Amino acid sequence: MQPKMKHLYYPLTVDPGGIITITEQGQLYEILQVVLSCKLFERLETSKPAEQLAAEMDWEEETTVRLLNVLVKAGYLEFFQGGYRNTAVTNTFFLPEHFLYLGHRFDDGLLLNSSRSKLLRCLRKDPDTLISKEPKWDHEQLRQIGVNALTGSIQNTVNSCDLTDARYMLDLGGGHGFYSIALAQKYPELKITLFDLPQVIALAHHFIVRFHMEEQINLLSGNFLQDDIQSGYDTVLCSNILHSDKRDIVLAKVKKALRPGGKIILKCRIADCPNTLSNDLNKLFWQVHGGKELFTQAEWRGFLSAHGFYNSKTVNLEGMFATMIASS
Ligand SMILES: C[S@@+](CC[C@H](N)C(=O)[O-])C[C@H]1O[C@@H](n2cnc3c(N)ncnc32)[C@H](O)[C@@H]1O
Repeated sequence: MQPKMKHLYYPLTVDPGGIITITEQGQLYEILQVVLSCKLFERLETSKPAEQLAAEMDWEEETTVRLLNVLVKAGYLEFFQGGYRNTAVTNTFFLPEHFLYLGHRFDDGLLLNSSRSKLLRCLRKDPDTLISKEPKWDHEQLRQIGVNALTGSIQNTVNSCDLTDARYMLDLGGGHGFYSIALAQKYPELKITLFDLPQVIALAHHFIVRFHMEEQINLLSGNFLQDDIQSGYDTVLCSNILHSDKRDIVLAKVKKALRPGGKIILKCRIADCPNTLSNDLNKLFWQVHGGKELFTQAEWRGFLSAHGFYNSKTVNLEGMFATMIASS
């Protein structure tokens, strides 16, 4: 039913606030796409007047000033000694050499593989979007997965698992290594083996060296579907690795690799996550990017018990992810 509008001088009875906010955020998103592609922030690590910046970039001066002022209002730049310079947020997340660089979130553009073109292809039942394909697991993709998770998810998972009594842990498909590094830092007595594909191990090694964790984290390369993952572990972490046909093979192997009474930590996307806009967006884009299956926590518990794990419980819910622990 449409609300009646009698007098145009009355305040609106339906609030357009949400739509205005989202369109402004959309404009800001496009502005950030432009400035990141022009590498603007690389030039503002130290303060610079607008005229100098406009001259360096060969940009129109008035537009440059207006752009810089928007970036100040949005919290990405600040005025300093008569010029503009990056804020701490920008220096941390928008300088490509920074470990936590998140500029990839703005790479979408109009590229063929952008989320919007994939969404459209999915809606139009493009046959290519109906099959889920194994990603190539290149270093940049895994770095992006890792730093996205470092915005809170890794910390919440690590802090929801008590590994005080564990001595040997396997991080299966550990990729970037951030879970292993965080756990090794939290539990200095814990010895961790990170297992991943040969082409991925160099990435994990890079970050392990960066955080000086070589003593505590050992790297093992191989294919967990075919190769020996070794045994005698107190804990095995399986974070985002149990997709489709891998699930049964890996769970059976993990069961054998754990000592009796050892624990599996499972981190996975779940269908029964809280009903929020953010989770619904994530579910949509998970589907669009090829993730065709999504199970409830009860279904995950069923997979665990089918492989002989018991006492499974969810210890953390974070967006559309659950962290579950079960005994072997
Ligand atoms: C989605 S990433 C998860 C990375 C990390 N565990 C996390 O939760 O952020 C999946 C990881 O599993 C690894 N992987 C996939 N198939 C594998 C296989 N057959 N053998 C070993 N590692 C594999 C990939 O290289 C990648 O590092």
